[in-house]
Amino acid sequence: MQDLLEKIIQENRKYTEKGNLATYIPELTKANKNDLAICVIDIENNVYKAGDYEKKFTIQSVSKPITLALALIDNGKENVFAKVGMEPSGDPFNSIMKLETVKPSIPYNPMINAGAIVITSMIKGKDNDEKLERMLNFFRSLSCNPTLNINEDVYNSEKRTGDRNRAIAYLLKSEGIIDGDVEEILDLYFKQCSIEVTVEDLARMGANLATYGFDMLHRQRIIPEDIARTVKTFMVTCGMYDASGEFAINVGIPSKSGVGGGIMSSVPKKMGIGVFGPALDKKGNSIAGIRVLKDISKQLSLSIF
Ligand code: DON
Repeated sequence: MQDLLEKIIQENRKYTEKGNLATYIPELTKANKNDLAICVIDIENNVYKAGDYEKKFTIQSVSKPITLALALIDNGKENVFAKVGMEPSGDPFNSIMKLETVKPSIPYNPMINAGAIVITSMIKGKDNDEKLERMLNFFRSLSCNPTLNINEDVYNSEKRTGDRNRAIAYLLKSEGIIDGDVEEILDLYFKQCSIEVTVEDLARMGANLATYGFDMLHRQRIIPEDIARTVKTFMVTCGMYDASGEFAINVGIPSKSGVGGGIMSSVPKKMGIGVFGPALDKKGNSIAGIRVLKDISKQLSLSIF
């Protein structure tokens, strides 16, 4: 496995040149475009890493399936899916369009920004501090990393420039889909996206989803089985946004990408995979990261289809 991972990273590093760093969150432009890393954790707890695996980056949209799991635990399926749909949108992650043109204007799914903001608004807690603490603790237990925390520079950068998310959130409030203070909900969402991780954290989270929510390291259940299944299904249908169909054909592994360059993948009953490559393609997914996943899926026959 180790040799295979080294080879895959080496062969795909050239593709980082073809992508671009996310610029709409200014702080993300400080990343090194040529970084590329992978970590695989199988369900026997073997850990393999290659490339720039020591690099830290912000989780961004990879957080969305995790907060979805927490919102489902907090509120139950019926309440969550009264406010967010279950269908791929076919639109970019930050699209506003369908909130206006389709009625009722509930977001299509919890993976696009509109849906994720609704999900964040449903996290339970007496105030934002308690909500954040609960959220961080959930990420910490799923990644088996008690030190996970927020990158304050990225958080401030996104908060300063997140006007598109602000537009989405105020529209959702005007339609009665989110309750409460919009700026507070957005503040929690920006913090959620700014959690700093490594590929190992993503691989561990993917592994814990691969076991349907059972933490093999500490031998305890973290997520109810049906919720872990729901989350992974969304990763297949919507995890790579408007590239999810092509990704399902070429890779065939439930995965979630983020504009920080991370991808979390979960091969049911086998392994979790974390990938990092901050150079993105036009749809906001790691350009070399997708190729790395394509190669490992092919070499190890990991497609679920
Ligand atoms: O809300 C945003 O736009 C970012 N915090 C997250 C977007 C993202 O990661 C989309 N992923 N490819």
